[in-house]
Amino acid sequence: MQVIAKKTYDEASAAAADLLAAAILMKRDAKLGLATGATPVGCYKELVKKYESGMLDFSRVTTANLDEYRGLDGSHEQSYRYFMDSHLFNLVNIDKSRTYVPDGTIEDPDKACSDYDKLLDEKIGAFDIQLLGIGSDGHIGFNEPCDYFNLKTQCITLEESTVKDNARLFFGGDLDAVPRQAYTMGIGFIMRSKKIIIMATGESKRDIVEKAFCGPVTPQVPASILQLHPDVVLVGDAAAIPDAVVEKYK
Ligand code: GLP
Repeated sequence: MQVIAKKTYDEASAAAADLLAAAILMKRDAKLGLATGATPVGCYKELVKKYESGMLDFSRVTTANLDEYRGLDGSHEQSYRYFMDSHLFNLVNIDKSRTYVPDGTIEDPDKACSDYDKLLDEKIGAFDIQLLGIGSDGHIGFNEPCDYFNLKTQCITLEESTVKDNARLFFGGDLDAVPRQAYTMGIGFIMRSKKIIIMATGESKRDIVEKAFCGPVTPQVPASILQLHPDVVLVGDAAAIPDAVVEKYK
């Protein structure tokens, strides 16, 4: 694992955007795994700037997102489809028919999950690069702490801490407005990605970053499995990346 620890959120966002941009420059039909949440917003802003400056062409890029709230359709402002459209897809020249997000409107969880796994196998196979954030309990996508590493897309009941985090950031603090379930890509597909960038910014991520990357690999800290992937870059700011992590991976 490589660690890129920048001083500020903006610098960390620019560094993550550079890595994604490099993937697109090297391979114009790159397949990108994308994440939502507060953390990658700055990275997407930087990618839009690079597109506007003429440096990046998204016209042949394919993307698939990690997760979606069960019950929300893409026109709902808190849906992850809406997030991706408004932070990236509507602002660059990507062909939206090649941007995939789990369908939160499918009521039957088995069907929603098997449909997404089929789509990932058919349209992606394996990402060239996967962007991740990390939840304060160590979740990646919406793969919450559990007794085993979940390999396939699944319907997850969110931990109360995740509901609270997301209520604060995206639902105006309204706990009742946060859906309790979500569809999430499995850890198996995430690990299949050729390269993984995990972003962590802000003091609130410091403890979990240390647990995930200096502690044991355990499904109780889902992000810890990334220690076993051959090509991971942790990109963050000084507040989120403890010295112990920098030391271990230097
Ligand atoms: C959310 C998303 C994750 C994200 C994480 C952290 O619940 N499902 O993909 O990485 O939690 O979010 P944030 O970046 O807002 O802290």
